[in-house]
Amino acid sequence: MILIDGKKIAAELREELKLEVSELKNKYNKVPGLTVILIGDMAPSQIYVRNKEKSANEVGLKSEVIKYPDTVEEKTILEKIEELNNDESISGILVQLPLPKHIDKQKVIETIIPSKDVDGFHPMNVGNLSSGYESSVPCTPLGCYLMIKKIEPNLSGKKAVVVGRSNLNGKPMTQLLLKENCTVTITHSRTKDLKAECLEADIIVAAVGIPELVKGDWVKKDAIVIDVGINKTENGLVGDVAFDEVSKNAKALTPVPGGVGPMTIACLLKNTIDCFKRAQI
Ligand code: GUN
Repeated sequence: MILIDGKKIAAELREELKLEVSELKNKYNKVPGLTVILIGDMAPSQIYVRNKEKSANEVGLKSEVIKYPDTVEEKTILEKIEELNNDESISGILVQLPLPKHIDKQKVIETIIPSKDVDGFHPMNVGNLSSGYESSVPCTPLGCYLMIKKIEPNLSGKKAVVVGRSNLNGKPMTQLLLKENCTVTITHSRTKDLKAECLEADIIVAAVGIPELVKGDWVKKDAIVIDVGINKTENGLVGDVAFDEVSKNAKALTPVPGGVGPMTIACLLKNTIDCFKRAQI
């Protein structure tokens, strides 16, 4: 079994991006800038944002985190986004989710100008991705996609099963696999026989947030299994895949932690650089 080392693949990607940033700096005499907006003091969000900032600095991006208390008015956030939209030194804007209840997520997402939407959440980017046009692609599925391609460069005709239909992961993951000519099945909580669906798959991407849902006998020999889940349980952090069981069957599997997580952050940096490059033309 190949343990897909997301930490290592992300470190390699960051090295490539670092080089690219230094080339862009020589060419344009400026570097891409990423601004992250963090509202409230939820611990997981704080940790993600700290890691994003650290990685952005490591590859040479200009990086800034703007923090607000969770009582901040929606209007203040929307005005800040407008200001960043108009700031030429900013290539990418990310508002860390989840948001406090009184702030309308959709409004926030749609206020970010699509050309700076490093999350790929704006309906314009979602539409472009599903039409096969150039777009920002959500960081987590992009990271999953890059890991799958490392194991299997030619995905044409492969059967892929995506477990979970979220806008963040499941749906964009499906689009990326479809673009690679996979036959894709999207499964979810109402799917009749999830085990039977998974048993058909050459590639499984599990992104539902149910601890150890995908069992060893759900997985075909030689399947590639990507575990997007991070679930806090009594036994510590576990993914959506029963790691020990599945590792006995699968050809390749991502660990939790150290799989998808580091790739998500590296892909955010990649998206920021890509937004910068598109803005120079
Ligand atoms: N919260 C958890 N994952 C994400 C992500 O990919 N983007 C944003 N903006 N917030 C998140």
